[in-house]
Amino acid sequence: MSEEENITLLKETKKVIVPEFYRDLTQDREYPCLWHFVHRHIEGTRKPIQTEDNLPDKHLLDWKVLFPAHNGHIEIEVGSGKGGFLVEYAKRHPDYFIMGSEWDLTWAHYAADREIRNNVCENSAMLRGDVFYFLRDRVKNNTVDAFHMYFPDPWPKEKHHKNRLLREDFLVEVARVLKPGKRIFYWGTDHKEYNEIALEVFDHFKDAKILERDTALPTEGIMTNFEKKYRQEGRPIYRSIIEFEK
Ligand SMILES: C[S@@+](CC[C@H](N)C(=O)[O-])C[C@H]1O[C@@H](n2cnc3c(N)ncnc32)[C@H](O)[C@@H]1O
Repeated sequence: MSEEENITLLKETKKVIVPEFYRDLTQDREYPCLWHFVHRHIEGTRKPIQTEDNLPDKHLLDWKVLFPAHNGHIEIEVGSGKGGFLVEYAKRHPDYFIMGSEWDLTWAHYAADREIRNNVCENSAMLRGDVFYFLRDRVKNNTVDAFHMYFPDPWPKEKHHKNRLLREDFLVEVARVLKPGKRIFYWGTDHKEYNEIALEVFDHFKDAKILERDTALPTEGIMTNFEKKYRQEGRPIYRSIIEFEK
């Protein structure tokens, strides 16, 4: 069966059943620091999540595959966009390994290009794919030191709220992969209502404690691309720092 016929069949069954080849983690030939997770996806969905038995297809990753020079300190940025924060942070912390993530191919390329130009591919990489499923299906327990999530898509219409990434099931994965001890989640948005909902989710999450509520400054003074634009426009920015205890 051709790939097109296969996809049509998948659409007709209305189940998102994804063959193994949609779930690879492969290094991009042109951008060595770019890793594709779900490198081809079925049109109309970004959530290819099941194998034929309806279970997640879990192949746990050894971070050394992405970062061969890995020294054990791993941070993840959720939704990196153009990669401005990722690259500046990686430059300041050559001893950290920071993985950006982006499900949009254009932005993933843009950010990976920026990493290459700034010589930070030794200690940073871009994941192109849905970071939620990457965490859920690939990342081992207790292997990540911190998360950064800045200006996530707000999905302002009520019927789209379900697409927001800062949800309890996302935090379950965050808490699972964070190393034991006190670990940090940096959060920032310009969207008042999403911010309120997000802080409620943190407040109700058992292992999370908000250390700075709405008053945090840009992490180490590094503004993201969206943040620079929004601050120029004079929009209010809500930044918080959350600690996870295990
Ligand atoms: C509004 S932009 C902000 C980008 C950057 N953090 C900044 O502040 O400049 C949010 C980005 O998150 C990406 N994104 C949204 N959901 C994602 C997901 N589940 N996995 C990976 N990237 C995601 C979007 O494609 C978009 O580029």
